[in-house]
Amino acid sequence: MSGYLLTAPAKINLYLEILGDRPDGFHELVMVMQTIALSDRIEVSSHRGKGINLYCKQPLVPLDERNIAYRAAQLMMARFPHAYEEFGGVDITIEKNIPVAAGLAGGSGNGAAVLVGLNLLWQLGLTQPDLRILAAELGSDVPFCIGGGTAIATGRGEILDPLPDLDGIPIVLAKYSNIAVSTPWAYQTYRAQFEDGYLRDDESWQDRMTQIHSGGLIQAIQTKNIQAIAAELHNDLEKVVLPAFPQVQTLRDCFAKHGAIGTMMSGSGPSVFAICESVEQANQLKTSVSTELNSPDLDLWVTQISCHGIQAATL
Ligand code: C5P
Repeated sequence: MSGYLLTAPAKINLYLEILGDRPDGFHELVMVMQTIALSDRIEVSSHRGKGINLYCKQPLVPLDERNIAYRAAQLMMARFPHAYEEFGGVDITIEKNIPVAAGLAGGSGNGAAVLVGLNLLWQLGLTQPDLRILAAELGSDVPFCIGGGTAIATGRGEILDPLPDLDGIPIVLAKYSNIAVSTPWAYQTYRAQFEDGYLRDDESWQDRMTQIHSGGLIQAIQTKNIQAIAAELHNDLEKVVLPAFPQVQTLRDCFAKHGAIGTMMSGSGPSVFAICESVEQANQLKTSVSTELNSPDLDLWVTQISCHGIQAATL
């Protein structure tokens, strides 16, 4: 066995609401997370020496502890020292297709892929719940990235409640390559401006989560009503990111003007997605937005909602 090839999809947030501050410094969230087909490819294999070799041609991707994929390998080596001893060091090669620092969980998905890959390579027999517990140590979005699909995520984002699959809905995704938003900055700025509106106790959080569970978006997902899903999109972080980055607001407005049935920033941005009724409409929307905004820094992709998390194949 020479190694594994992992496909690690991007995610978008169909919903992101910040409920309050947590004692651990993070925020209590209610999100609806959704994987899309746009994916990175990660090869994981063993080498005879010790340590981690990380390769990626995309210059913005760090090749050390700053990369979640690297930290995922470190975590597995620390937790399973006998396997590390037996199989040796780890080579990780990342082919980056998901834009970096985009609010699309690209880095988190790469970390999830390394956990899944090493579980297979080292024949550890860890289950999805086992992997999600390890994943939560690496970042709030990493547990979702393991299984993907459509899910309500609460807590820091690591508590997952699966929803029915929404496969195949066409999406146009857009990101200005010259804009990067720091996720800690987005949350800190939100706190500074909106802390007064935070729900103060566990009971209020629970009540709000119950409301969302029985609310319009979840019903729309359960009935696969695309128009209703599009009408229920929400992201609290838009309140701080859009005023600070007017280009992102313009992009979002441009999607709406050219007929997207719903459009929203994903995560802490700056990527924006648009939901479309058909692939033809998505291709048309991509062309219209690209023509109108006419910027060499604007990247656009036509993709679709997908029900897959990390997928593995032997090399
Ligand atoms: O968990 P992750 O490393 O992805 O989080 C990145 C940053 O986003 C955290 O350092 C924190 O500033 C912010 N965050 C938060 N509350 C969450 C998730 C993330 O404040 N639930």
